[in-house]
Amino acid sequence: MESSGLPPWTCLSSLIFLLLGCGLPLPGAQGQEFFLRVEPQNPVFPAGGSLLVNCSTDCPDPKPIFLETSLSKESAGSGLGWAAFQLSNVTGDSQIFCSVFCNGSQITGSSDITVYRFPERVELQPLPPWQPVGENLTLRCLVEGGAPRAHLAVVLVRGEEELSRQPAIGEPAEVTATVLAGRGDHGANFSCRTELDLRSQGLELFQNTSAPRQLRTFALPMTPLHLKAPRLLEVGTSGQVQCKLDGLFPASEAQVQLVLGYQMLVPEVRSHGDSLMATAIVTAHTDQEGVQEVECNVTLADQSLKARANLTVFNFLGPRVNFSEPSVSEGSMVTVICTAGPQVQVMLDGVWATAPGQPAQLQLNATESDDGRRFFCQATLEVDGETMHKNESAQLRVLYRRPVTASIIIGVLAAVGVIIIAVALKYAFRMQKRSGSYYVKQETTSLPLRNMQPNEAREEESS
Ligand SMILES: *[C@@H]1O[C@H](CO)[C@@H](O)[C@H](O)[C@H]1NC(C)=O
Ligand SMILES: *[C@@H]1O[C@H](CO)[C@@H](O)[C@H](O)[C@H]1NC(C)=O
Ligand SMILES: *[C@@H]1O[C@H](CO)[C@@H](O)[C@H](O)[C@H]1NC(C)=O
Ligand SMILES: *[C@@H]1O[C@H](CO)[C@@H](O)[C@H](O)[C@H]1NC(C)=O
Ligand SMILES: *[C@@H]1O[C@H](CO)[C@@H](O)[C@H](O)[C@H]1NC(C)=O
Ligand SMILES: *[C@@H]1O[C@H](CO)[C@@H](O)[C@H](O)[C@H]1NC(C)=O
Ligand SMILES: *[C@@H]1O[C@H](CO)[C@@H](O)[C@H](O)[C@H]1NC(C)=O
Ligand SMILES: *[C@@H]1O[C@H](CO)[C@@H](O)[C@H](O)[C@H]1NC(C)=O
Repeated sequence: MESSGLPPWTCLSSLIFLLLGCGLPLPGAQGQEFFLRVEPQNPVFPAGGSLLVNCSTDCPDPKPIFLETSLSKESAGSGLGWAAFQLSNVTGDSQIFCSVFCNGSQITGSSDITVYRFPERVELQPLPPWQPVGENLTLRCLVEGGAPRAHLAVVLVRGEEELSRQPAIGEPAEVTATVLAGRGDHGANFSCRTELDLRSQGLELFQNTSAPRQLRTFALPMTPLHLKAPRLLEVGTSGQVQCKLDGLFPASEAQVQLVLGYQMLVPEVRSHGDSLMATAIVTAHTDQEGVQEVECNVTLADQSLKARANLTVFNFLGPRVNFSEPSVSEGSMVTVICTAGPQVQVMLDGVWATAPGQPAQLQLNATESDDGRRFFCQATLEVDGETMHKNESAQLRVLYRRPVTASIIIGVLAAVGVIIIAVALKYAFRMQKRSGSYYVKQETTSLPLRNMQPNEAREEESS
């Protein structure tokens, strides 16, 4: 604010004017009253401007008219009973005095100059990046400059709604207001407005508004995060990991991270109301064998909620049933082997392997009856207290040819048999044609079958 202080000599002369009866008409020598007018009277105008002041009197014989002011002035003409002055660079409020000698007496007149200026700075202090729902938020507005302060008010605003209106006091003026942050305030724009009300001075209501600041509010639930993941996952297979959270606001702005060991998963995140659900499909790889940690991390407003679960990745290889030869000839020894991966216990046709990870095997002298025989191998793997089974079987081929002489005799016998049957059929056909008779099928005399009651059956047995 500009000081309207006058140099000491001005004050002194002002005091003299006042003692002499500032602005009051003096009685003329002939008892006549004369006036000294200062125009404009008590003007309000923008700071830094210039002002034309006209001092006029009805005194018929005025001695030179003076203007007393601390402001820089220039004569702007004079005439009979008047003198005009141009005041420039009027930056602060001040009082100006005109004086004239009329018939040996001094007459004075004064005018109060009020300057107005708009605030140089109207700023709403930054809001917290995230404001918890249900907690008080303090809005703080700084106003620098602005005059006259008596007509300057500071208004804190949410959207279009006026939250608080206070006078601007101090330099800079700081105005605060407290609001209880709610869900509805998420995305709301807050701002600060100054109002310089000069309507009573015949001017306008001048408003200056700060840049708006948008608030983000959030709420985290008391309930924990729900993480669902398979406990066991076999290498090469896939499973679903699901992370769920309720009572989160705004759920759509939360970020979810799902991690399996060191592998970042790419979850599909869905939010519905205050619920958030992230799902990801995980596929186990050989290099992940063992206990892996699944972690879900939901981040909202620089706050994280976390949940962990263990997932055991295991590799269950086999079983495989193998023969020493894919096909063997009758009477030769064949070895049947069942193998599986490490830690897998196998049993081949009832024969256990000596230890997990070891093959089970059996030997046999292949006979004709072993052709097409199936060998079953059952594999068992225990992971994290759970037992898993896999089965496999393979069929043995045994090659055998009967002696050649036996085959010839069988072939000849078969041929003779065919000839005999052919001859017999031909003879029978001829006989039938010659007699010309045919058989009539006799009606059956047997009764149709029906269900028998147990006692009925017993009766029949006893009769
Ligand atoms: C000053 O006021 C007098 C009397 O009202 C008038 O005659 C004169 O023109 C005015 N001068 C200026 C510069 O306005
Ligand atoms: C106006 O007044 C101010 C202080 O009152 C001064 O600093 C400034 O130099 C002045 N400007 C002119 C153009 O006279
Ligand atoms: C918020 O402030 C008001 C007064 O400004 C007070 O009554 C209320 O208890 C405060 N609420 C919280 C949650 O701090
Ligand atoms: C707040 O302001 C931003 C940017 O000007 C605008 O996109 C948003 O819609 C406003 N919010 C409200 C609630 O009006
Ligand atoms: C949670 O995830 C965010 C990224 O979304 C990350 O910045 C933060 O460090 C994670 N927090 C923890 C505890 O892992
Ligand atoms: C199965 O046996 C064949 C030969 O009979 C051999 O080439 C193959 O490597 C064996 N496979 C396994 C898994 O032992
Ligand atoms: C397999 O059994 C047959 C008949 O029982 C016998 O002649 C043959 O020597 C046996 N083969 C072997 C390798 O023991
Ligand atoms: C494996 O075979 C055993 C016995 O033959 C049977 O009880 C079990 O159900 C089979 N398991 C699978 C996975 O096929």
